[in-house]
Amino acid sequence: MLKFINRETEIWQLKNQLDSPPNSVLFVYGPKSSGKSTLMMKISKMYPGDVVYYDFRARSPSELHRVLAVQRPGPGTRMRNFFRRKVQKNNIFDGIELHEKQLKMMARGKVDPFAPLINKIKKFHKPVLILDEIQNLSHSGLDNQELAQLMNFLITVTKRLHLAHVIIVTSDCLFIDEIAKLASMEEASEYLYVGDLPKSSVLEWLKEEGMPIHLAKKTYDVVGGRPYDLWIVIQHFRATNDVNVINTMTRRKSSRVKLVLKSAGASELRFIRKISKGPLTISDIQPKILKWAVENEIAFFDPVNGEVYALSKSMQEAIKKV
Ligand SMILES: Nc1ncnc2c1ncn2[C@@H]1O[C@H](COP(=O)(O)OP(=O)(O)OP(=O)(O)O)[C@@H](O)[C@H]1O
Ligand SMILES: [Mg+2]
Repeated sequence: MLKFINRETEIWQLKNQLDSPPNSVLFVYGPKSSGKSTLMMKISKMYPGDVVYYDFRARSPSELHRVLAVQRPGPGTRMRNFFRRKVQKNNIFDGIELHEKQLKMMARGKVDPFAPLINKIKKFHKPVLILDEIQNLSHSGLDNQELAQLMNFLITVTKRLHLAHVIIVTSDCLFIDEIAKLASMEEASEYLYVGDLPKSSVLEWLKEEGMPIHLAKKTYDVVGGRPYDLWIVIQHFRATNDVNVINTMTRRKSSRVKLVLKSAGASELRFIRKISKGPLTISDIQPKILKWAVENEIAFFDPVNGEVYALSKSMQEAIKKV
C-alpha cells in the first residue's frame, strides 16, 4: 500500500465544493505526476455519494456517445460489481450503464448522444462525475464540435440542472484553455491547482522513510515536492541508503532537453535560458514556443494566473545545466 501524503488544503477545498449543490464544472489541473489522479482516488473513496470515475488513459472512446456511457454488463457481472462495491465500501462506477440497444440507437444518430443519461444520473445518489486525462479524448479522435457538445452537456448537468458534480482532471492546460473557449465556460467553471507537496510534508515523509535530514534537504533542493520524483528517490534510498539517483534524474532530464533543442531554433533556446531563472508570464511568450515547451514536457502553463514554469524543480535544475 502506497503512503498518501498531505493534500489537506486540496481535500478541504474539494469537500467544500462537493458539499454544496452542483453549480459549475471543476477543473483540477497541475503538472504531470503532481498527484492529481491519486488525490481524485482518495476523494472518491472518502465521498459518501456515488462516483463515476472515467479514466481516459485506460479507455479512450472515439465516438461521442461512448464517452460517458458504457454498455450495461450481464446480470452475473452486475451482481459481482454490486458485491465488490459493498465489500470495498465504495460506490465507484466506471461509466453510466446503458443497454446495448440504446447505445446502437445513439451510434446511428437516432437518439441524442447525451440526453438518455440525464435520467440515469438522476438515479445516482449525490453523483460526482470525474473525467481524468480528458485530453486523451482529442487524441482519440473527437473533433472540436464534439468536445463542445460534451462540455455543454457537462454544463447542463451542473450549472443548469444541478444534478451532478463534474470534475475534469488534466495536466494539459492548453487543452483546458481550448475546451473552455469552445463551450464558453467562463461563467460555468472553477479551478483547483494540484501542485508540489509543501517542504514540511516532504521532509516529514523522507524522515519517516528513515532518511537522514541532510539527505532529505538535499533531495528537496533538487526535486522539490513532486510526489513521483520523491517516490523514485525513496525507492533508490531503500536499496542504496543514498540519494545519488537525483543526479541521474537531472542528468537524464538535461540530455532530453539538449536533444529536443537540437532540432529547435534560437527562440526556443532563448526561452530555455529565460525559464531556467524562474516563472514567465504568458504575454512574454510566443504561442508557438509555449506549445513547443508544453508538448515537449519542459514547461507547464497555469491557465488561471497565466504563468509558465519549468515542468518541475528537477526540470528547472536540469535546464540550468543545459
Ligand atoms: N499525496 C501523495 N502521497 C504520496 N504519493 C503520491 C501522492 N500523490 C501522488 N503520489 C505518487 O506520485 C505518482 C504520480 O501521481 P499521479 O499519477 O496521481 O499524478 P498525476 O498528477 O495524476 O499525473 P498525470 O498528469 O501523469 O496524470 C504516483 O506514483 C503516486 O503514487
Ligand atoms: Mg493522472
